[in-house]
Amino acid sequence: MKGNHFKLYWFEEVDSTMDIAREFAKKGEEACILAETQTSGRGRWARKWYSPKGGLWFSISLLQTFSKEKLVFLPYITSLAVLFSIKETTRISAGIKWPNDILYQGKKLAGILLERGEEYVILGVGINVNNEPPFKEFSISLKEILKTDVDRLLILTQFLKYFYEFLNKEKMEIIALWEKHSVTINKKVKVITSSCEIMGIAKKLSDDGALMIIDKENKVRKVFSGECIQFFDDSVFNDAD
Ligand code: BTN
Repeated sequence: MKGNHFKLYWFEEVDSTMDIAREFAKKGEEACILAETQTSGRGRWARKWYSPKGGLWFSISLLQTFSKEKLVFLPYITSLAVLFSIKETTRISAGIKWPNDILYQGKKLAGILLERGEEYVILGVGINVNNEPPFKEFSISLKEILKTDVDRLLILTQFLKYFYEFLNKEKMEIIALWEKHSVTINKKVKVITSSCEIMGIAKKLSDDGALMIIDKENKVRKVFSGECIQFFDDSVFNDAD
């Protein structure tokens, strides 16, 4: 990390702030790219990320070759910074669903995307702030919860403050914080990875940043990345079992 000061670029409309941030990274500049709307916003697993006006859509270019270990923790650090910035700005207590979805009452409030090149990392954050949430059944916005507009720049400022604070924390502290604010720990989950599906109870994060799941044979399974389906209703798990 060069330092915790860099330029903020604001755009009315872009394809994706991820691509603009990458251009800056390639030119050797750490920057925060903010857009009012994105025409091709993207999420994890190459999903489309709906980005209308009113949301907080931004990407940060970090000119650093993070060790593999530190890289695993970056999304956890980012999700904690999003969670804390929302709490600080609005008093809303959200939770983190593994690996880094921010949920409020089971609905998605914010998402995080990490992309990397040889010598840089791009972190993308999308928070439903004053926009209509895209799919009412699965997502929610801060305005919808509070019935009033929220200052997006305040959230961004708080995010940057927490992000740099957490970046300097020991990994065991990050693990403890993440577990404390996670809605996944001790829940029944199904995690779909590129090679298999694991069902069980999510127990904790390992020292190297994996989600530890106890499956029904009582075996401990470790997953570093995947799509997590969480069962809030026990019967669903039994049916699928
Ligand atoms: C996810 O939950 O799937 C991650 C969503 C990340 C969305 C943000 S919005 C700003 C940045 N630009 C993008 O195209 N995506 C990220």
